[in-house]
Amino acid sequence: MAATDVPQANIGVVGLAVMGSNLARNLASREGNTVAIFNRTKAKTDELVAEHPEAGFIATESYEEFASRLSTPRTTIIMVQAGKGTDAVIDELTKVFEPGDIIVDGGNANFRDTMAREKRISETGIHFVGTGISGGEEGALHGPSIMPGGSDESWETLGPIFRSIAALAPDGEPCVTHVGHDGAGHFVKMVHNGIEYADMQLIAEAYDLIRQGTGKSPAEIADIFDEWNTGDLESYLIEITAQVLRQVDAETGKPLVDVILDQAGAKGTGAWTVQNALDLGVPVSGIAEAVFARSLSSKPGQREVAQKTLPGPTAEWTIESPDEFVEDVRLALYASKVIAYSQGFDEIIAGAEEFGWDIDKGDIAKIWRAGCIIRARFLNRITDAYAENPDLTSLVTAPFFVDVVTAAQGSWRRVVSMAAHAGVPAPAFSSSLAYYDGLRAPRLPAALIQGQRDFFGAHTYKRVDKDGIFHTLWSGDRSEIETEGSGH
Ligand code: 6PG
Repeated sequence: MAATDVPQANIGVVGLAVMGSNLARNLASREGNTVAIFNRTKAKTDELVAEHPEAGFIATESYEEFASRLSTPRTTIIMVQAGKGTDAVIDELTKVFEPGDIIVDGGNANFRDTMAREKRISETGIHFVGTGISGGEEGALHGPSIMPGGSDESWETLGPIFRSIAALAPDGEPCVTHVGHDGAGHFVKMVHNGIEYADMQLIAEAYDLIRQGTGKSPAEIADIFDEWNTGDLESYLIEITAQVLRQVDAETGKPLVDVILDQAGAKGTGAWTVQNALDLGVPVSGIAEAVFARSLSSKPGQREVAQKTLPGPTAEWTIESPDEFVEDVRLALYASKVIAYSQGFDEIIAGAEEFGWDIDKGDIAKIWRAGCIIRARFLNRITDAYAENPDLTSLVTAPFFVDVVTAAQGSWRRVVSMAAHAGVPAPAFSSSLAYYDGLRAPRLPAALIQGQRDFFGAHTYKRVDKDGIFHTLWSGDRSEIETEGSGH
């Protein structure tokens, strides 16, 4: 058979663990795609081909063979562990790829690594596209939300391929958009994960408050979450929470949630979201409390001693009306969720400004409506909010969300104060309420902080009644002097 007759693939996948295999199967199931596959361990490749003959995979055994079976511009998606594994595959691919070819990193890479890789690799003429792929193993197989960065030229090739496999939003739109150049895709995926952490923490706090406040069983609380999932809080995370709470441990017959060790893990994307928010000067208090709550849960030594030494409230926590309390918790969850998303979008805006990305917030909300872990009915509202006013100063001030928090704030305040009185930790609920009150406060105690800073460090301050930079001579006559230049 002449070389020109050998069937060629329009897309390749390197790395055939569950995510990579599922993505390859998804690609192969779509009209117009022929998929070449390569895995360092050949057995994995053979296993995938044997289990899925319908996929028509072009199995390859070397990087050279892999490249030879790809039509130009050669386009492949790397689905391996973020970090050194990714660099090893990139090194091999750059040996067999040519200018104009496209390497997509579909792992959860740190966007700064992606920016460095894109800069280095694009010097060879090869396109490097850091791409957030959200939705876990199921999403990879049936339709993820896809957040590619990279060059406009690479998007011309990748757009149709990604649109063929992405999840479809309720309006039929594929959940993928060209987020922005270089590391923009992995940056937005990072913020997605930060919001995911906040969402999960808020749901966990809602569960804990109801469990401790009403004594309801996990299965009874699962029914509550199922009910919530028919309304404004409809989302993947609410849906799976009901399933997790309903699960019974086969060994003990107890609710599985009571058998699971209460120490939460984290692969790092939530921490990155907070670290970068600190650098960008963006308060993401709900996300930060979610990250720290996982850290706190994973300090068994400190917790054991604290359980024995630190007293809780003495008053008995009684709830007159469990149904009213459950409704209060639902509204407090909704309002706190609004804050978490508002803060997450603030970070996306700040990142776009800092790194020179032209990110369309409405498009990001759109592609999060299906496929990703934070998919929810709520994201249709965010899409509408940015469509009505793309220059919203913060999402929570959009008319729809003002109505939500107006209706919820009484419940929100009751739940946060009840949690405090009952000694039930609700860091994400309470920090979100504190952020809300800080954002709307006409006057903040930051004025006193400026005075303190000027007292001990002569860091100067501004005044409300006239322009200029001022310093008070705190010892002696305490007169105020106007200094030139900015405060230090
Ligand atoms: C997704 C998820 C995924 C994430 C896992 C583990 O969008 O599909 O966010 O990318 O890596 O959920 O995250 P943690 O271990 O950090 O909780």
